[in-house]
Amino acid sequence: MSVKRNVLVLLIAGVVAMGCHRVFASVPESADRVKPLSAGADIPDVSVMQADGSAVNLRDLLTQPTVLIFYRGGWCPFCNMHLGQLQEAHAELVKLGYQILAISPDLPAKLAESVEKGDLGYTLLSDSTMAAAQGFGIAFRVDDATLEKYKGYGIDLEAASGESHHLLPVPAVFIAGTDGTVKFAYANADYKVRLEPAALLAAAKGAAGETVKLPAPRQSGGIPLLDALKQRRSVRSFSEKPIEQQLLSDLLWAAFGVNRPESGMRTAPSSYNWQDVTLYVFTPEGVWTYEATGHRLLPVRQGDHRKLAGLQSYVWDAPLSFVYVSDFAKMQQGDESFSADYKLKIGGIDVGHISQNVYLFCASEGLGAVARASVDAKAFAEVFGLSPHQHVMFGQTIGWPSED
Ligand SMILES: Cc1cc2nc3c(=O)[nH]c(=O)nc-3n(C[C@H](O)[C@H](O)[C@H](O)COP(=O)(O)O)c2cc1C
Repeated sequence: MSVKRNVLVLLIAGVVAMGCHRVFASVPESADRVKPLSAGADIPDVSVMQADGSAVNLRDLLTQPTVLIFYRGGWCPFCNMHLGQLQEAHAELVKLGYQILAISPDLPAKLAESVEKGDLGYTLLSDSTMAAAQGFGIAFRVDDATLEKYKGYGIDLEAASGESHHLLPVPAVFIAGTDGTVKFAYANADYKVRLEPAALLAAAKGAAGETVKLPAPRQSGGIPLLDALKQRRSVRSFSEKPIEQQLLSDLLWAAFGVNRPESGMRTAPSSYNWQDVTLYVFTPEGVWTYEATGHRLLPVRQGDHRKLAGLQSYVWDAPLSFVYVSDFAKMQQGDESFSADYKLKIGGIDVGHISQNVYLFCASEGLGAVARASVDAKAFAEVFGLSPHQHVMFGQTIGWPSED
């Protein structure tokens, strides 16, 4: 009996060890290969430690809307500077109902250093095991040469975390809702470049808006495919008539919705099924992103921001525009690495398929549409706080064709 129990214990220990190994083995070897969670993802089920050393499940702390700041440690001057800068937005964030949690690999006993240096009003948490950073997809392994270099500067990562994993987080900011999902994500592999306080504040205001649960999409009907192909054309003149919510639901599903719920696969193909493209949806009322799994719209900004959807004036009055953003961080396959040129090509092709779905749906419904490269990608990225791995590919404007 005891032999059996010992074997069982060994087996369990082995499985746990293999499990841990698998987790660490899947951590990328460099900061530019991390795959951060994006808006719509579930907050991972992970434990962190509070300053007094007690463990707490991160989800249990999300009793109010939360800004989660991942930083490298109290030893990192850029992190302390950034934490200090974000202090500018602190009062406004609190007014909006947010709490701010700042998470680093530092041991609980070390957290006080950041507080003293920055005189912060945030709650600091220890992720010394790096479970949270891994859950959010931002952990990477520091190579031996860099470890040595850091030691030369008096920075000892093992002493900071009390662990020998040699993992660090890519500095990142997530906004978490009380529904346990990510509302906004910003991560930058270059630890010197951080999210501006104004961009965080704007994202926090946007995320405080309402999620729109779309009605179930109509998944059959329409005109025959060959007739739709015959009708497909670009239209650049639209009436002011709005697009009803059911039609918007059908259109988004046709564009890039889930057509095989058992596997989560979509109406448009994507290279390696990376599903790298996010649709930003612009209406006179606001800006959202389309979350296909839940078939819903996640709030980005309230109010009329259609000038950011395109440079041509017909875009600014049209009832609906999409801007397609490709996430290059999703373009990874095992150890294979892909060039920036390749990712740009793949992102463009993936978006092209979605945009043709939109053209054909519009042809079927009598709607007008035009694909547009004319988007100010730089302004868009700044205003909506895109991470450097998120690229504006192009846009598409949709509406009822005007009579003239
Ligand atoms: C990638 C791409 C970018 C485009 N960019 C613009 C644009 O910025 N502005 C515009 O008015 N039309 C734009 N178009 C629409 C083309 O001008 C249009 O598809 C072309 O003239 C052929 O017309 P058709 O779509 O009616 O067949 C774009 C089309 C594609 C595929």
